[in-house]
Amino acid sequence: MREHLTVVSHPLVLHKLSLMRDKTTSTASFRQLLREISLLLAYEVTRELPMTTMRIETPLEPMEAPAIEGKKLALISILRAGNGLLDGILELIPAARVGFVGLYRDPETLQPVQYYCKLPDHLDERLSIVVDPMLATGNSSAAAIDLLKKAGAKNIRFLCLLAAPEGVERMRLAHPDVPIVTASLDSHLNTHGYIVPGLGDAGDRMFGTK
Ligand code: URA
Repeated sequence: MREHLTVVSHPLVLHKLSLMRDKTTSTASFRQLLREISLLLAYEVTRELPMTTMRIETPLEPMEAPAIEGKKLALISILRAGNGLLDGILELIPAARVGFVGLYRDPETLQPVQYYCKLPDHLDERLSIVVDPMLATGNSSAAAIDLLKKAGAKNIRFLCLLAAPEGVERMRLAHPDVPIVTASLDSHLNTHGYIVPGLGDAGDRMFGTK
């Protein structure tokens, strides 16, 4: 992907996102919409994958048919909200390898601290797609990508539902080689680190917690 930031402006994505933002949308509907939107975003983030061909036989004749080149993709979910995006993408790419990164924010330093990390092998030979619905400060996303790079990943893309300009800038400085795909670039972060206008706490809305 050539652009550092791609905002997917497909009418279906925009309409579903508006329904997700609405505070009266139920947990069940929010989850269903997230599943649907993640399929559309996955379509966009997997554009321009290197292709090869494979020899197959149709009922009429043999042919060299297009196929995605290389090892299976790696999907890396940033816990816990990343799992909401992950489920839908796995429907589209069922053979993908899956990793999880858990980070919490240290209340004193406000820096992300890792509490869980389980990554697929051979990351140096795979495209890794890191998923987290909300790119807010960008601190946890940048830290998760640091971990991936330490594990050998060289080809990484970041997929989110909403991005704040502050998070995009943080990612551009920390990881200029990682393209970001999002459904919306929102206005700003508020003093509590929430994206405005946003949709609230993505984890709480998808899991029905408070
Ligand atoms: N995480 C969320 O869930 N929502 C925000 O607005 C920002 C970070």
